[in-house]
Amino acid sequence: MPYRLREICQDDLPLINRWRNDPEVIGLLGNNFLYISQDVDTAWFEQYLQNRDKAKRFAIVDNMRNRVIGTTQLTGIHAINQSAEFSIAIGDKDYWNKGVGYMATRMVLDHGFNDLNLHRIWLTVLVRNVRAVRLYDKIGFRNEGIQRHCVYKQGAFEDQLMMAVLKEEYLPVLSTSVSKKAVPASIRQPVNV
Ligand SMILES: CC(C)(COP(=O)(O)OP(=O)(O)OC[C@H]1O[C@@H](n2cnc3c(N)ncnc32)[C@H](O)[C@@H]1OP(=O)(O)O)[C@@H](O)C(=O)NCCC(=O)NCCS
Repeated sequence: MPYRLREICQDDLPLINRWRNDPEVIGLLGNNFLYISQDVDTAWFEQYLQNRDKAKRFAIVDNMRNRVIGTTQLTGIHAINQSAEFSIAIGDKDYWNKGVGYMATRMVLDHGFNDLNLHRIWLTVLVRNVRAVRLYDKIGFRNEGIQRHCVYKQGAFEDQLMMAVLKEEYLPVLSTSVSKKAVPASIRQPVNV
């Protein structure tokens, strides 16, 4: 496997901080752009360590170069509802459009449904982020509607798409290889935005 996941650690913070201050990366996320100091990220990481039952945060590692290229996470883990929010950001732009997002998302979903006993994994994505929508669609997330003008970014309000996948919908995907394009077209749900 060319990439792996591992839990984020203190040493990752300078890199994470650099990506969180990169307008191009943040511009593609639902998050607002804010200048974030290293001290804030250190406190954020310490808080995460106290709440590991509510969130699982991973570094995406290029095995060949032993280099962290992005992060992905399950947050807001709800024990009764067995649900969690998925998010991902490949901070190293050299790795965009190479199938890393597909592999990392598959690894997180496999872990969420197989090991963490989740029933529903959901996300939100900017409508204009067509690459991310394409990826989620391909993996089996289904469109659950649009949140109109729900985030203010770069001087304008933007719409977000809500998507989710249930364990029973993901089971056919779980049995396929994590390698790119392994998901049969027959189990994909096309997204109509
Ligand atoms: C979104 C992100 C996770 C996707 O990962 P990735 O490794 O770049 O994407 P992949 O190569 O796995 O797959 C992208 C798919 O989108 C398609 N795509 C790329 N650009 C596209 C475009 N402009 N229009 C339509 N489809 C597009 C690719 O062809 C590919 O589909 P295919 O495998 O059927 O050919 C990654 O680019 C990233 O982290 N971007 C910055 C932050 C971000 O947008 N995070 C998601 C926020 S919800």
